[in-house]
Amino acid sequence: MTDNQPGPSTEPVKPADDPDAFILRQLIASPGGFVSGNDLAGALGITRVGVWARLDKLRAAGFAFTAIRHRGYRLDAQPNRIFPALLRAYLQDSVEERSAPMPETSFFKTIDSTNSEAERQLAQGCPTPHIFIADKQEKGRGRLGRTWHSPQEGNLYMSLAFRPRLTPRLLQKLTLWTGLAICDAIDAFCKVKLQLKWPNDLILNGRKLGGILMEARIDADMTRDVVLGIGLNVNSEPEAWTDDLKPVAISMRQATGSPVNINQFGAFLITSILSAFERYSREDVSDSIRDRWPRRDYLAGKEVSATPGNREITGIAKGIDTDGALIIETAGGRTTAVNAGEVSLGTARMLAG
Ligand code: BTN
Repeated sequence: MTDNQPGPSTEPVKPADDPDAFILRQLIASPGGFVSGNDLAGALGITRVGVWARLDKLRAAGFAFTAIRHRGYRLDAQPNRIFPALLRAYLQDSVEERSAPMPETSFFKTIDSTNSEAERQLAQGCPTPHIFIADKQEKGRGRLGRTWHSPQEGNLYMSLAFRPRLTPRLLQKLTLWTGLAICDAIDAFCKVKLQLKWPNDLILNGRKLGGILMEARIDADMTRDVVLGIGLNVNSEPEAWTDDLKPVAISMRQATGSPVNINQFGAFLITSILSAFERYSREDVSDSIRDRWPRRDYLAGKEVSATPGNREITGIAKGIDTDGALIIETAGGRTTAVNAGEVSLGTARMLAG
């Protein structure tokens, strides 16, 4: 699947530009109800047979519909894997609710890394915001040069590309701000309580649910572009994980006990991040970060060991400072602010982070 959405991001998407997304959107907007084939055909400027043919194709892709004469169609089941037109249908719904423009989206069955693709497309001048999503990554990248295990197992591998007008100094806190927005979105969608292991590991029940990899290109003292990569264990089953991941990872499905509607969740998450990003570009959110961080802070009060540069700092984590750096209280009550590098629990490295 390489499925690029047509049209610039600032213009509303017309039904005929994206017929499958339009049909699916009408159907998901009337859960349990019926949508008239005549109405769909009229809005799309095609015949009723044309609508039928489209639904037949969707059936082959895992959707189920009931068709009743004089009533129309009802959506009974949808595939629980990333399906571009369905994700766009949910996305159109959720951006309209917030009166926001529809972002550009690109989907891939397999790609090296959505962050790498976003960087390539930014270099070519793609419009922003632009969302890149893949079912599977062959060279998924994590923080600090690590590999991000990215099999095709119903997880979310996604990168959001922006060209924000931000000074590089503001980028560290942008990661934290985005992490907070992601926590809020997952909590609201799944009724769980996520935590953040500084700077951007997403932790649920003490295990790693996902991570954020923010990469930026900087010109002189201005940010040229930013790629925000997010990897989330959504519907993957622990049996499919490697032995080293099993004791430290968790998926949303495992935590909630039921499969997550990945297209609806993906759309909700994208809109949440876009509006968080928009707010960050518009106003100073330092107070909001300071107020919200303690509730999410997984490391607070724990013994940690950090390795900024070649040094090793061990002590008790004490939250973040005004720049978003991690504060560590070392022996003798002195505090040090850590801006980058690996942070592990205790003195031994934690595999999940
Ligand atoms: C971490 O080390 O915790 C960050 C992991 C980020 C992984 C995501 S998956 C989508 C995007 N593409 C990548 O290659 N990496 C990020």
